[in-house]
Order: sequence, then structure tokens, then C-alpha cells
Amino acid sequence: MTTHLDALKRHSVIVADTGDIDAIARWKPQDATTNPSLLLAAAQDPRYRPVVDAALARAGGDRQAVIDRLFVGFGCEILRHVAGRVSTEVDARLSFDSEATVAKAEHLIALYGEAGVGPERVLIKVASTWEGIRAAERLEKKGIHCNLTLLFSFAQAVACAEAGVTLISPFVGRIYDWHKQARKVDDIALEDDPGVASVVRIYRYFKKFDYPTQVMGASFRKAGQITALAGCDLLTIAPDLLEQLRSAEGDLPRRLSPEDAKRESLTRIALDEKAFRWMHNEDAMAVEKLSDGIRRFDADARKLEAFAATLLQGQRAA
Ligand code: E4P
Repeated sequence: MTTHLDALKRHSVIVADTGDIDAIARWKPQDATTNPSLLLAAAQDPRYRPVVDAALARAGGDRQAVIDRLFVGFGCEILRHVAGRVSTEVDARLSFDSEATVAKAEHLIALYGEAGVGPERVLIKVASTWEGIRAAERLEKKGIHCNLTLLFSFAQAVACAEAGVTLISPFVGRIYDWHKQARKVDDIALEDDPGVASVVRIYRYFKKFDYPTQVMGASFRKAGQITALAGCDLLTIAPDLLEQLRSAEGDLPRRLSPEDAKRESLTRIALDEKAFRWMHNEDAMAVEKLSDGIRRFDADARKLEAFAATLLQGQRAA
């Protein structure tokens, strides 16, 4: 009997959204995505202490270097279990600094290189701010591929496609969360789900106008949001939802296809910086969620730094 996960794999590339290396080894996805919050959880897991210790040793006591070494250390371990790519995020504090984002991405790629991992196996995750998108445009021209994250508005998606980035991650669940709170309801039906609708709109636009930028639905809250997007280029899914999809039996229809998108009547839009800022700013949810997302990833990166600093102190005292 076909499971929903088997059916989904026929329509979309399945990606694991976790820093849990054992879970990735179990699920054997094509790619994997990490973020500072996921890596904070993984680094505190006793099973992965050797990865943390190795990062601390390589960082040579430098607090700044620890986070980069940790992110790359987890990335390398994850790559032992996936055939494709791992996504590694740049420091959220650089979200409004193109120059520093480019430098950080190059540094991360250099660290991967030292570990014998080529740039084709890494996606550098950058927040989809105007500055982040410009940094990604420059990185792509240097052969460093990017995954533009914290993507909530149509303006962010169009600007990413225009910049020629490899992949975008529209955040279905966080859009859903915002609208649930705004409407003061406990759930929103799939047919009315603004997170799902956002990905459908972006996917159709990209395929209609032949943008090669891949669309990877991310940040899911329930399995139905995933199956409603069957056919999306990629879907990054947390282990608990992968489990639910494997437990559900039956076939799934394809919901998104380039052929259907081509038949849509859509208007192409051009976005310079002013138009981007205006259009993004018109979307209150996207403005709030982008800022909130940067704050949250930054907070978790700082917690990770503090955790690493405590371990370093302990090593020195021993
Ligand atoms: C993946 O790339 C995203 O970082 C992740 O899906 C975010 O999920 P969350 O909204 O559950 O934190």
C-alpha cells in the first residue's frame, strides 16, 4: 500500500528540516535544512556532543568562530546521510549588511572546503531582506548557491527570482500562525490557508515566467499543508510530520505543475528597491514575521554561543 510520503516523493523532492543527524540517517531525504533554532536543539543533545567538541577544538577558543564551526560541523555530519545539499544559515545579525553576508558565506564555504565538501553540496541560507537578496545575487555569480529564507511576501519571492537565487523557502506555517492569531481562531481550513496560498501563488508565477529559482515550501504545522502543495519543487519537512505522512495510507494527487501554471493569466512585475520596499511593507504579516524571524534566529544563535562558551570554560577549568 502506498503511503502519503511515497506518493509525495513522486511529485516533489523531500527534504528533512532538522539538525537531528540520527533522524536524517533514518529518513534518508534528498537534502536537509538547518537553522539556528534547529542547531541549538541538536547541539544540546548529548548524542551530538562529539560534533560540538570537535567544533570547539577547531575554533581554538575563539567565541566568534565557534558558531561557524558548529554550523559547518553539523552540516558535514548531515551530508554523510544525504545525497544532495545541506542548507547552512548565515548569522541573523548580518541580515541588513550585504557586504558582511557575502564575507560570512564565503567563510562558511571555505570551512566546508577544508572539510572536503564542495560548494555544490551547500546552500547558504540568507534572510530575504533587500540586503540579503543583493548579497545572494553576488554569491550566486561567484558559484555559491543560496537558499533565501524567512520569506513571507510575494515581493520577497519576486525579488529573489529576479536576483537569480538558486532556491527560496516560503514559510507556510509562520504565515498560518500569524493569521490564526489575527483572526483569533484555533485553525484555518486548508482551502483558506494563507500560507499554502502564498506558495501556490509564488510557484505559479515562477513557472509561468520560467524563473529557474526553485520553490521549497517550509515551516509546516500540519500534514495537510504539505499534501496541499504536492508538486512544489521541494518540501522541507520536520521529522514528526514525515512520520505522520508515512503513517497515512493512500495516493495523493499532484496539486502544482508547471503545465497548469503556464495556463494561468498572470502579469509580470518589475521590482527595483523602492518598489520592493513598498510592496513588502504593504503586507503587515510579512513585515512582522520577517522582523520576528530575524530576532528569533538571532536569539537562538546567541543561546548557542553562550552554551558553547560554558563548555569552553569547563574545558579550560578541567
Ligand atoms: C526551514 O528552512 C525553516 O527554517 C523551517 O522550516 C522553519 O520552521 P518553523 O517555522 O517551524 O520554525
